[in-house]
Order: sequence, then structure tokens, then C-alpha cells
Amino acid sequence: PIDLRVKDLVKRMTLAEKIGQMDQISVVNMQGDCQWSGGAFTESCMKNVLVDNAAGSVLSGGGAGPTVNTPGNWATMVNTVQKYAVDHSRLHIPIIYGVDAVHGHNNVLGATIFPQEIGMGSTWDPALVKDAGTATAEAVAATGIDWNFAPVTDIARDQRWGRYYETFGEDPLLAGTLAASAVKGIQGADGAKNVAATVKHFGGYGEPGNGHDRVPGDVSIRYLQDTLLPSYKQAIDAGAMSVMVNSGAINGIPATASHYLLTDVLRDQWGFQGVEVSDWQDVRALQISYHVAADYPEAIAKAVNAGLDMAMEPYDAQGWSDGLKTAVQRGLVSVQRIDQSVSRILRMKFQLGLFEHPYVDASKADARVIGADTGLARQAADESQVLLRNDGGVLPISPSAKKIVVAGSYADDINDQVGGWTVGWQGVPAGVTLPGTTVLQGIQKAAPAGTQVVRATSDADAAAQAASADLTVVVVGEKAAAEGAADSPTPQLGADQVALVKSLKATGKPVVTVVLAGRPLVLGDADGTQGLLMSWLPGSEGGNAVADVLFGKVDPSGRLNATWPKDIGNEPMYYQQLPGTNSGPGSFIDAAYPFGAGLSYTTYSFDSVKAASATVRTKDTVHLKVGVSNSGDREGDLVVPVYVSQPSGDVLSPSRKLVAFTRVHLKAGQSRTVSLDVPPSRLAVTPGDIDGAGKQQVERGDYVFTAGTQTAAVTVR
Ligand code: IFM
Repeated sequence: PIDLRVKDLVKRMTLAEKIGQMDQISVVNMQGDCQWSGGAFTESCMKNVLVDNAAGSVLSGGGAGPTVNTPGNWATMVNTVQKYAVDHSRLHIPIIYGVDAVHGHNNVLGATIFPQEIGMGSTWDPALVKDAGTATAEAVAATGIDWNFAPVTDIARDQRWGRYYETFGEDPLLAGTLAASAVKGIQGADGAKNVAATVKHFGGYGEPGNGHDRVPGDVSIRYLQDTLLPSYKQAIDAGAMSVMVNSGAINGIPATASHYLLTDVLRDQWGFQGVEVSDWQDVRALQISYHVAADYPEAIAKAVNAGLDMAMEPYDAQGWSDGLKTAVQRGLVSVQRIDQSVSRILRMKFQLGLFEHPYVDASKADARVIGADTGLARQAADESQVLLRNDGGVLPISPSAKKIVVAGSYADDINDQVGGWTVGWQGVPAGVTLPGTTVLQGIQKAAPAGTQVVRATSDADAAAQAASADLTVVVVGEKAAAEGAADSPTPQLGADQVALVKSLKATGKPVVTVVLAGRPLVLGDADGTQGLLMSWLPGSEGGNAVADVLFGKVDPSGRLNATWPKDIGNEPMYYQQLPGTNSGPGSFIDAAYPFGAGLSYTTYSFDSVKAASATVRTKDTVHLKVGVSNSGDREGDLVVPVYVSQPSGDVLSPSRKLVAFTRVHLKAGQSRTVSLDVPPSRLAVTPGDIDGAGKQQVERGDYVFTAGTQTAAVTVR
């Protein structure tokens, strides 16, 4: 019936109304004097956007919200826009409202902030990521919003890129599996679909050539098919209702104008039926930045003919309407092509129930959002902690410790640990303090009676205090920022922070370094403290989670989803490097801490790997059983990764590639056998010589599956 309703509606629409549906306008264009001044809605601006130009969608990019930022006010704001559209548009078509809720409903004051995706990636926990997606979607829906621009599904391998922290990390299978879980969580099970998810930024946005956001990437078809695209495919197969397009260019073609990406791959190869939306102002960019179109109508035609359905913030509604109309008049775009996109957009609105329920009860928003979901956020932050060093068992902190010093400016600023896209586009705006627990507060709460926690007042004081302390916890890090603002040619710990850690090391007393950052940072002289905990950007419960691990309430279970470089020249940095004749130890790809690294307080062992069959065909799934044990004296979660390698093959292959994983709970002394499947898609590679560019296939030959130190050999015939 939805298809019939869509057909019926499209039949009754004018060309101008159809063009409007393909337009997504920033809410700011309806406020103040319609020129980016924000403030209250004005009747004339709303009329211009929602009636005269019949815009089909509105967004709050980077959190642009109501003047008084409460969930209730958000809901009222969205209802106001919706009511204007429904009441005044000729066919009473509701708008669909979009927002970036990438780690909790991070646009709203009072919402609980989950760890940023890079931290969620280090949990290796699809069920948790799904639950966080559901909680986020419920909060988003409570504020009247129907479309979430999440999850980021890009693979990040260049730590110079400032949006690294928004990804699930460097590995295609890990990122794809977690993105698929996020999609399911956001959209709800069994077609409940209260909020649409967005697989972004398709495809290859995480591959900026020199590490700077949105510079073109040049990749081989083999790298594109085997490494960059599979994560998006996994998330789309999970039922994502929309896709956002990469702002960058791949192989000389802006993704927004790429028929190959937007139609050949997405529609024809993968069967994607949902809505493809551009990123911010990217259709116009085809003309003014990329110069692949002589004027705006030509730019619009290129994007629409490539397969784009909706333009995000195309500067102004009138410009979009006139531009697409002109493109039709010039014969550059067909009305049939427009009907296709409009049908997809309307179908998404029908699926979300917007025609039946366009409004939300604003009086319920505060109760649903403020202070909710803290238990889940703490679990997520707990699971995302990656313990990288624990020399001499310095952790967990001994209950007999009399004096703990907490040093470093990152120890006590909540805004530093909640990441980018939080309330503001670049992170929490100045003057706003979010609810949550800092690392200092977490330690103060968790320290046993009898343990004195001393906050160092300055770096000099830290060294002086450390000299008489049982342990110093120094919290260092880097602030997150969005879209270019955090790009860095030198992703390393700041010199002042390195100096602080060095001075603490010089005391000869035990030091534990906690890093709050969205990417591995070269630590230089700050490396080598007895304890090293990567806490990422752990969100509002981060301080509690760090304390949970430091004091041993929780067994650290996070594992690195990003290879940690030794030196700033080690970029791009990832474990699936292909072999060369001069590679090996001491080469530019040296890791300080490898992909998958992470310690626990208990002792795990990988006891066996067995394949159900030593010989399979190219179309078969490889069934594996992995035996694991907890031989230590406390319970915990163990991440179980399985890697594959090929002793020889026609095309280069990395020395290990993740092909399956799970996360299991093991009581002290418990052993378990876990079943893991490797479908052929995880072994497939693009064959052929440099001009090959064929379809992916599984090479015949020998494969070795490894879990821990255990291996199983399988031959594919
Ligand atoms: O969703 C985002 C995207 O990730 C980057 N550009 C702006 C969009 C809307 O805020």
C-alpha cells in the first residue's frame, strides 16, 4: 500500500512541488532574517522555504537548535516547522527533519553522551552499539526528529584526518559490523522505523589523499572494492533507509557526481532502495569548488543524474528550485528521474509514519532525554577502555594506596571528554558545561576511604606532589573538532603534555597515563609510564568508566580498533599493510601498539581453532570453532578476533586480515568454545593485474585462520 500511496501522491504533484521535495534546508534559513542569524522563526522565511519552494526536508546541521536548548524546546521547534509545512503546503506533505545524533542525542543540553564512535569501535560489541543506537533514536524521536545522520561508516586509516574519531576505526569488518548494528538500533526492529538511519559518507570519505578533510582520494579499484566499500555494504544490507554522500572526490570524480558510486554500486550492484542525500552544500560545490559544472543548473543535473535524491542545504531554497527547473527546461534532467527521487523520499516519509503522526508531544521530551540512559552510557564507556600498559601490575590501584595524585588539564573538564558534534558543531560551546563525570570526579568517587586524592594545581605542583604519592594518574589528550578543524600534519601529544608526563616519570614513582583523544597520538617521551589507558572520548560517563578500570571494578576489555603509530611519519597507519621488499621491523609502519592490542586484569588463553572442514569450495562459508579460557582469578569479557592470511596468492594480501570476531564473557577458570563463521565475501578479493578491475572473487588456494597463537589451515578448491 505504501507504493500505491506514493504513486498517487506523485501523480498529483506539480514539478515545482517535486523539486522542493528534493531540497533539504537548514532550520536557520527560516529564522531571524533568513540569513544565518538564528533566533525566532519568521512567517515570511517559513513561507519562502516550506510553501513557495515546498522544501521536503529541514535539518539542524551540527546541532543548530532553539535559543534555549532543552529537549522540550527542540520538540516545539520541530513541531512549529512541521505544522507550517502540513498546514500551508498545497498537498499537506510533512517535512522530514534531520539531525546529527552521532553519539547519543548530542545536540541537546542534558542528554547523556555516549562514547564517540572510535571508542564504541574499541568495544567490539555489536549488541552494545545496537542498544546505544536505540537509546539515541528514542531520545531523537522524543524531540520530534525523524532522521539521524548516523552511523559514520567510513574506514579511517590516516590519523592526520580530523574526523578519525567519528569512525569505528580502520578495519572494514569491524566498522561494517558495528555500523550495521547501529542502523538496526536506530531504526528499530521489524520495520518499526521511528527514526531513519544514514550510512555516511558514501563512499571512501575516510580516504583523503593527504590526510586533510575532503581533499580528493585516489584509490585502485581493488582497494575500493576490497577495503573501502564493504563497510557501507554491510550497513546498507542491515536495512538503512538513507545514505549520505562523501563530500570528497574519488579517482578524479566528486562522489556527489559519481554515477558509478551513486547508481552502479549503490543501486544496481547492492539494490539500495532508500534515499541518497548529499552532504552540506555539495551540489553547488560541483560548480564552485570542483569545477566539474559550468553553472548551477549543470551542477544539479550532474548530481541528480548520478543518482542523488536530495540536496542538503543547497544555499537557498529558491536557488535550488530555479536551478533544477532550469536543468529540466534545458533537457539536462528528465522528469522521470525526478519522479524516481521524489518517490523514494515520500516512501521514506510514509515508512516513518509521518503522514499519520507528524507531531510529537513536546511535554514528554525533557523526561525522556534529560539524564536518561546513563547506565548504558557507562557500560559503553567501560567496555571502550583499552589498557595498553600495566607494567608490574600497577593497575588496578591497590586499596592500600594512601595518596593518589591526579594531574593534567584533561582530568577535570567534561567538555574535553565528550568530543565533537556535541551541542555545538565543533564540540561544546564556550560557557556551556555538560552534565557528566570527569576523570578527577570519577577517581574521587571511587577511591576507597583512607585513600587521599590530590588534584595537582599546576604541572609543577604535579611533579612535587607525585614525589610523595603512591601513584599519579596523569590525564592527557586532544580536543576533538569537526570537518577540517582537527586535521593535523602531526597527530601527536602536545609538547607541554609530554613535558608534564616526563617530569612525573622523573620522580621514579608509578605513573598511569590516561589518554582522552579521538585518535592514537604519538606519545614520544610520554610513552613508557607504568600504566597506559586509552579512554578515547568516553562521553558523559567517561570519568566513572576510567575509575571503574583504574580501581578494578571493571576488567578492561577494550581492544585497539586503530593501530597506534610510533612516529608521526607513520601515516597512513593501519595493520592491513601489504608486503614490500623493504618492509618489516623498523619500517615506516612500525606500531607502538598494534591493532587488537589491549590488556586485562585476568589471564585469557586461546586454546584451539578448528575448521569444520579442511577443504571448502569458493562459495562455502568456513565454519570455525575457537576454544578460549579464562585462567585468571576474576571474570571478564574477552574479544575473540579471527584473522586470515594466505601463504601465497595472485594478488598481494596483508599478513593478517580480520574475518570474524565475537565478544564473550568468561568467569574465572571458565573455558568456552565459540562458533564463528567466515562467509566467502570476507575472503573475496578483486583479482587481476593492474588493469584487472574485475569483480571480487575468492581465490583458490590455502588459507590460515588464526586466533591468538592458534591456527587452522583450510584449502579453497
Ligand atoms: O551530517 C553532517 C556530515 O557528517 C558533515 N557535514 C554536515 C552534515 C550535516 O550536519
